[in-house]
Amino acid sequence: MGVQGKLEGKSKMKVGVLSGGGDAPGINAVIRAVVRKGIQCYNDEVVGIRDGWRGLLENKFQKLDLDAVSGILPRGGSILGTSRTNPFKREKGPETLVENAKAVGIEAIIAIGGDDTLSVAHKMGDFGLKCVGVPKTIDNDLVGTDYTFGFNTAVTIATEALDKLHSTAEAHNRVIILEVMGRYTGHIALEAGLAGGADVILIPEKPFDIEEVCEYIRSRQKRGRNFSLIVVAEGAKPKGGKEIVYSESIDEFGHISLGGVGYYLGREIEKYTGIETRVVVLGHLQRGGSPTPFDRILATRFGVAAIDLVHEGKFGFMVALQGNKIVSVPLKDVVGKRKTVDLELYKIASVFFG
Ligand code: F6P
Repeated sequence: MGVQGKLEGKSKMKVGVLSGGGDAPGINAVIRAVVRKGIQCYNDEVVGIRDGWRGLLENKFQKLDLDAVSGILPRGGSILGTSRTNPFKREKGPETLVENAKAVGIEAIIAIGGDDTLSVAHKMGDFGLKCVGVPKTIDNDLVGTDYTFGFNTAVTIATEALDKLHSTAEAHNRVIILEVMGRYTGHIALEAGLAGGADVILIPEKPFDIEEVCEYIRSRQKRGRNFSLIVVAEGAKPKGGKEIVYSESIDEFGHISLGGVGYYLGREIEKYTGIETRVVVLGHLQRGGSPTPFDRILATRFGVAAIDLVHEGKFGFMVALQGNKIVSVPLKDVVGKRKTVDLELYKIASVFFG
């Protein structure tokens, strides 16, 4: 995809970059790659748009030259900031985006985000705003790409947490529950659970039966294993029940704030088994800090491919990883969908339950 050398293209464009939604380790690596390739190979001018779509609504821009991206490859967060602003929820929001982009001469936008941010990028095509998407979410639930960047870092952090919890659970003969992120899907829970040797993994895709969970714990006791580690995704729910909600407030894309299923489980397990149980909610530790080498490389490949797509005029597309190849997929085939976990992989993980 695209040219790889330096200053092979003569075209010069003014390209805007923004990051929206929850942050994910690797956003800065994408921004760096877009700027480096854009300036060095295409002679582009790259403009940072602050705080996701909000920055374009409110005319908040940031200069992105080679100096601005120097040293940011290993940094977590986003040098551009991020937000969950939905322009379609604002009076004349889409029209304002188009006017503001035109006023500062932005010809194309690279939107780094998950389903919400990319759905705006997709819909803005109808208003004439030229967008290319980069798939970002620690949840890894976007379709069209095998992996989003940020996911590998989150899995690594959750696996390290499990390794640590193992020794203390064993020393105290306790059940320890690790609650991880994963609003609608259990990718983090499943991969971290597999890598960290969890005794039970609970995911949104498979509502759980508390009796069954307790049975796994008891079966371990029977073979002399007096401790158990359970990984639960925040969006997991009991059979016939609902997700556990942290707060009733709903964001501009209609998402409720989840959290607390770990504590629910902990109370139920203590009640049914009488075994002392502790709960750890990993929360935003999964999103903070430096990206893993895998995420740095994936984010860099995505960033380079995104600026190439801009120069190929492939607007309305998202860069993606399929196999080990970077490809492009139409945003219309991505947005509003959800990649759930591979149930074959869950089956493998369940060999080790109990
Ligand atoms: O969208 C990714 C995610 O990590 C979800 O798993 C989680 O529910 C959500 O972000 C929480 O984000 P925040 O606390 O920033 O609203």
